Amino acid sequence: MLTAYLLGSISTSTLLTKKVAGIDIREHGSGNAGATNTMRVLGPKLAGVVLLLDALKAVLAVLIAKWQGVPELFVAGAAIAVILGHNWPVFFRFRGGKGIATTLGAVLALVPVPALIAAVVGLVVLYWWRYVSLAALVFTALLPLFTYLLHAPHEYVWFTSAAFVLSLWRHRSNIGRLVSGRENKLGAKT
Ligand code: G3P
Repeated sequence: MLTAYLLGSISTSTLLTKKVAGIDIREHGSGNAGATNTMRVLGPKLAGVVLLLDALKAVLAVLIAKWQGVPELFVAGAAIAVILGHNWPVFFRFRGGKGIATTLGAVLALVPVPALIAAVVGLVVLYWWRYVSLAALVFTALLPLFTYLLHAPHEYVWFTSAAFVLSLWRHRSNIGRLVSGRENKLGAKT
């Protein structure tokens, strides 16, 4: 779990935006260290790399836990730890992202079928309404439901429930903006 937390703490958007453009992504756009804000500030190519790497670090964290042959509870613990690291990275003064790409990577490695179904619904929401935050909230809300309905180990239902609570917490300002109609749409500048 410590390894997973440290992996999660590798804030790829903060590192890459500094390297590529000499900026700290957390001082621009929404201030979030994630793929959506990277796209807003520096475009889709770099955002795609951030999305991929943030998901991959979670896949790696889950696979490392699985390779240890530990019980599902600890694999689920590693999955939550990598998200915690991403959201509150020890290497970057605990200012990270909202954990959606990292959650995606973790669930693809843990419960691929529920993950894919929830991701497809999230993409439909994104296509239709153009709010990444709304799509992220719908995606994370559906994860525990599909994980439960498809009879995954109950430790993974707890994990996806915890991931949803974290997503709700990290998106609380987005939720406020969605409710008041001030949320940024995909492609709009802040
Ligand atoms: O995954 C983050 C996304 O849901 C919202 O990002 O930058 O619009 O707050 P942002």
